[in-house]
Amino acid sequence: MQTTEQPDSFMFSSENVQLAQLIIERYPEGRQASAVIPLLDLAQRQEGWISEPVMEVIAELLKISSIRVLEVASFYTMFNLEPVGKHHVQVCTNLSCWLSGSEDVVRACKDSLGVGFGETTLDGKFTLNEIECAGACVNAPVVQIDDNYFEDINYDFMTEILDAFKKGQRPAHGSQTGRNGSCPKGGATSLSFDPTEYSKKQDLTAAKAAFEESKSRAMAKGNVKGNA
Ligand code: FES
Repeated sequence: MQTTEQPDSFMFSSENVQLAQLIIERYPEGRQASAVIPLLDLAQRQEGWISEPVMEVIAELLKISSIRVLEVASFYTMFNLEPVGKHHVQVCTNLSCWLSGSEDVVRACKDSLGVGFGETTLDGKFTLNEIECAGACVNAPVVQIDDNYFEDINYDFMTEILDAFKKGQRPAHGSQTGRNGSCPKGGATSLSFDPTEYSKKQDLTAAKAAFEESKSRAMAKGNVKGNA
């Protein structure tokens, strides 16, 4: 399987044994193999990475061969097949992020951490990796650290974020420029409240009411036929 040094064995913690059982029970009889992704996620949250013994234990739980677990674990890049540091820094360098300045972000990471892609700092606190599109292109450049996305970043933002992690802090994730969600950089342009539009709507309502009233009067005089 992998060339990384592997542990001798793996066991889910007692709490995770119960969670694993609950996860497996979510699937109908004969479909338990579908629990492979949540079980890999559970194991990675416990161990930090997916070793061969982890895959063997999951295969045994799901009554499938361990190669089927490896197929899934090696397909999805969110599963680490090698140990990573306490914080996993994943920088997106795909097209939107590259066009928006990801090269500066990569430089900030390398300057701050002193490691390159695929490497872990000597204190074991950070692993730096390059990823393909993180699926948040609208807020490029994007970096994922552990479970969170940091968006709209540049060299200075990245340096500040990493400094905060080094101090044991959890800096605010999301847009670093204060953008609300993925709205345009200049602010919302649709579904926004415009008092002028509101008063126009009020005028329209009043006009409709006046029309209905005059129509009723005309009908009363016998000048207009109502709907049959
Ligand atoms: S290209 Fe970076 S999030 Fe899509």
